[in-house]
Amino acid sequence: MPVLALAPMAGVGNWVFRLICARLGARVVGVEFINCRVVSQRSARSERLLDFSDALIYESTGLSLLAAQIYGNDIDLIAAGASELEQRGAQVVDINFGCSVPLILRKGSGAAYLKDLDLLYRAVHQTVEAVSVPVTIKTRVGWDEGSVNIVEVVKRAEDAGAQAVAIHARTVVQKYRGEANWDWISRAVEHAGIPVFGNGDVYSYADATAMQSRTGCDGVMIGRAAMANPWIFDARDGASLPERIDLAVELLNLMARHKGEKVGVLESRKHLALYFKGLGRDSEMRRLILTTRSLGELVDILREWRDDLEDDLPEADLTLSREEAGGLAWGGTG
Ligand SMILES: Cc1cc2nc3c(=O)[nH]c(=O)nc-3n(C[C@H](O)[C@H](O)[C@H](O)COP(=O)(O)O)c2cc1C
Repeated sequence: MPVLALAPMAGVGNWVFRLICARLGARVVGVEFINCRVVSQRSARSERLLDFSDALIYESTGLSLLAAQIYGNDIDLIAAGASELEQRGAQVVDINFGCSVPLILRKGSGAAYLKDLDLLYRAVHQTVEAVSVPVTIKTRVGWDEGSVNIVEVVKRAEDAGAQAVAIHARTVVQKYRGEANWDWISRAVEHAGIPVFGNGDVYSYADATAMQSRTGCDGVMIGRAAMANPWIFDARDGASLPERIDLAVELLNLMARHKGEKVGVLESRKHLALYFKGLGRDSEMRRLILTTRSLGELVDILREWRDDLEDDLPEADLTLSREEAGGLAWGGTG
């Protein structure tokens, strides 16, 4: 069974979702990325992003490892920010060298470092010096088809002290278009002296095992598929209706605690829509789940539904289709 990690996802990887994935079997859980200039700010937003209280559970149970991710264009601030992340409880500090969102690239952050590997080396090295937890990187295979440099990137990061690398097997210009090319993961694995996590287009548990057997990667990192099916971390491609309802109730209650009722319910909807996609667009239950704003009302609706069901219903398949995955792409596929 491959070691499975939850990919860092902005707007998704809060402590509620991380805890759910860890409990189901994710051995590393990624935090939504944090700008190196935001880490030191004292705002409600930064405090929420930096709420790593779930790490205490991982520490005491050995369930998972919390990997907080930092990005930015100032390596002094990245190193200082990494130290703050460690003090907040991060068990791993990950540096983002893979983000392809145009605004981030224009500022010289994220995957922009793939064009300057000396800078990438210095960012990793300085961060390694600043913290005592492991430093890892997450990146893409290269800028474009003609300049794939993942082997060199891994080597430089490794020389600088990185302890693992996660590779989204697409180029920067590709964003989320086309297919992830796992051959580049194999190539990186052949040359790497540190563990490699493969990432990109793993939609089912079978995809995860296929990625590992085809590439020899040490672990598989899963993003969008986990939004629809966190049971993927338990080697399952779905869950029964009672299980999905129970998880929905838990998600809603915890999200309301974390973000307040209004935002918590709203932000849970992207998961609920995927857990209950089998209901079909015309279903009255689906409409209620995706439009009810009151936490109490929504939980009552779900509990009543649950009470009417047998316990031994079959599992529904929650595997994402390519179209569904495209719709969840970060910053769009364009
Ligand atoms: C909503 C969303 C937010 C994301 N945010 C981040 C992020 O903060 N840091 C990062 O390195 N990658 C981020 N990604 C990229 C994912 O970590 C992952 O590399 C990508 O989705 C490909 O994996 P998948 O095919 O399993 O989804 C994000 C992706 C999505 C869909």
